[in-house]
Amino acid sequence: MLSTCFIHLKTQPWWIITLSLLGFLSLFKNSIFLLKWIFITFFRKPKNLKKYGTWALITGSTDGIGKAFSFQLAKKGLNLILVSRNLSKLKNVTREIEAKYPNTRIKIFEIDFSGPNISAGILEMKEAIKGLDVGVLINNVGVTYPSAMFFHEVDEEIWMNLVRVNVEGTSLITRGIIEGMVARRKGAIVNIGSGASIVTPSHPLYAVYAATKGYIDQLSRCLYVEYKHYGIDVQCQVPLYVSTKMASKVASVEKPSVFIPSAEKYVESAVGSIGYEARCTPYWGHSIQWWLASILPDAVLDAWRLSIGINRRRG
Ligand SMILES: NC(=O)c1ccc[n+]([C@@H]2O[C@H](COP(=O)([O-])OP(=O)(O)OC[C@H]3O[C@@H](n4cnc5c(N)ncnc54)[C@H](OP(=O)(O)O)[C@@H]3O)[C@@H](O)[C@H]2O)c1
Repeated sequence: MLSTCFIHLKTQPWWIITLSLLGFLSLFKNSIFLLKWIFITFFRKPKNLKKYGTWALITGSTDGIGKAFSFQLAKKGLNLILVSRNLSKLKNVTREIEAKYPNTRIKIFEIDFSGPNISAGILEMKEAIKGLDVGVLINNVGVTYPSAMFFHEVDEEIWMNLVRVNVEGTSLITRGIIEGMVARRKGAIVNIGSGASIVTPSHPLYAVYAATKGYIDQLSRCLYVEYKHYGIDVQCQVPLYVSTKMASKVASVEKPSVFIPSAEKYVESAVGSIGYEARCTPYWGHSIQWWLASILPDAVLDAWRLSIGINRRRG
């Protein structure tokens, strides 16, 4: 059968042979891509996170994705350092986790990443957790605009706040924790990026948010390379919409769906990806959307995002 095919092909003009070869190579490449995606998404074994250390630190742990990470990491047997801005919410989350996972040790730190004393707060926390082998760091805290706005409409206070939380906070926490990981020669750092800066070529009317997430992406990639030989796995996770308080505010997402998972569903996949690729979108529904975006021209995606932004600004 195959030999008949070859004999038939040999009788064809050169341009048909070239086109067939290109078609075959493209099919081969796409099949490998699809098989790899199926394996990574549904069959790859999660890493044993306890090998990195017995404690995990999660920022923005009182709601949404950060809270879901806290539960999942407790389930994996890690002790938790929860960092967020509201003490009573931190205590509530602690009670909820202790009720479900009574063996989990939990330390809480109230730090407002938009406040003037982030460095002092982080230094204090660093002193308090000295000696703990923090093996996993989830840099989850992140904020965005209260609503869609052109760049010139955004109050300086709003975007400075955004830069402080998304850029300064993440960098300072990483700086504070990575030294211990270097000394122990092991660790996993997950920085939560966003499709806003990676999946689509632009995110109009949320420009500063997308720009801060672009920073997170590049910081992660560089640290991934810098610290690999210290045994530290740095990763940027790129969620698309996840049904949380933030998504409800910016995109009126009120309930989860197949392509917009709940925070818990997202984190189930997210925890399984820790320690692998430098950049990934762990939830399967998000990777399908990413792939669809990758085959569309940038101009189409730009126009689509701009119309969404303008509609949200009006609404
Ligand atoms: N949800 C999405 O669709 C989506 C998509 C892509 C990327 N992301 C990224 O995922 C991460 C988590 O988002 P989310 O949707 O889970 O957000 P969320 O539901 O709004 O939760 C944010 C968490 O961060 C805390 N936080 C906010 N401002 C803070 C500050 N100044 N200091 C300390 N803690 C602060 C919040 O504390 P309180 O409980 O006190 O409010 C809360 O625990 C963010 O980095 C976001 O950019 C989200």
